[in-house]
Amino acid sequence: MVSSPLRIAVFASGSGSNFQALAEAIAGGGIPAELALLVCDRPEAKVVRRAEALGVPTLLFRPKEYASREAYEREIVARLEAEGVELVVLAGYMRLITGILLNPFYGRMINIHPSLLPAFPGIGAVRQALEYGVKLTGATVHFVDGGMDTGPIIAQQAVEVLDGDTEETLAERIHAAEHELLPRVVRWMAEGRIKLDGRKVTVAKEVGP
Ligand code: GRF
Repeated sequence: MVSSPLRIAVFASGSGSNFQALAEAIAGGGIPAELALLVCDRPEAKVVRRAEALGVPTLLFRPKEYASREAYEREIVARLEAEGVELVVLAGYMRLITGILLNPFYGRMINIHPSLLPAFPGIGAVRQALEYGVKLTGATVHFVDGGMDTGPIIAQQAVEVLDGDTEETLAERIHAAEHELLPRVVRWMAEGRIKLDGRKVTVAKEVGP
C-alpha cells in the first residue's frame, strides 16, 4: 500500500535551524513527509528566508495586528485545514497557544525543547541548566498539551555539560542533538508508529522489508 506523505506545518519564530534540519532530512529521503507550511509570527526572522530558499509556503502574521491570540489562531487553523496539515511541529515558536489551535491538533502537535523535561521548562532552558549545575541536559520532543512544556514525552536525547561550558557552547551541542532527534521523531510520526495513551507514548518497532 502506498500512502501519501504526511503533511507538516512547522511553527518557528527565530533562526529555524530545526526547520532546516527537518527540511534536509525529508529531502534526503526516508521520511514519508512533506513540509506544507511554515507559520511565523516575526516577518524579520531568519527562518522566513530559509523557507523562501527551500520553496516552502509561509504564513506570516503580526500578533499586534489582531485583537486577541484567539483571533490569529482562528486564522492559522483555517489555513492549516486548507493546506491539509496533519502534523504541527513547534520548533522555536515563542508564543503561548490556546485551545483554538491546540484542540483540533491534540495528539498531532509536537514541540522541541532544549532540556531533558520535566527539568527546566519555559524560556532560557540552557541557561537554567547551566546555573543549576546539572551534568547532563539535552533535548526533548513531546506532544503539546495545555501547559508550558508539560505534554507527554516522545523522545529525549542527552547532552553532557562540560566544565567551562558557556550558554553558547552548550546550546550549540544541544542544537546538534535536536537536529537528529526531531527528524527521527517526525519519521516515527510519518510512519504511524507512535501511540499516545494518557501520558505514555510508545513507539512501535520498525517493520522490516
Ligand atoms: C531550539 O533550541 C528549540 O528546542 C527551542 O527553540 C530553539 C529553536 O532553535 N524550542 P532554531 O530556531 O530551530 O534554531
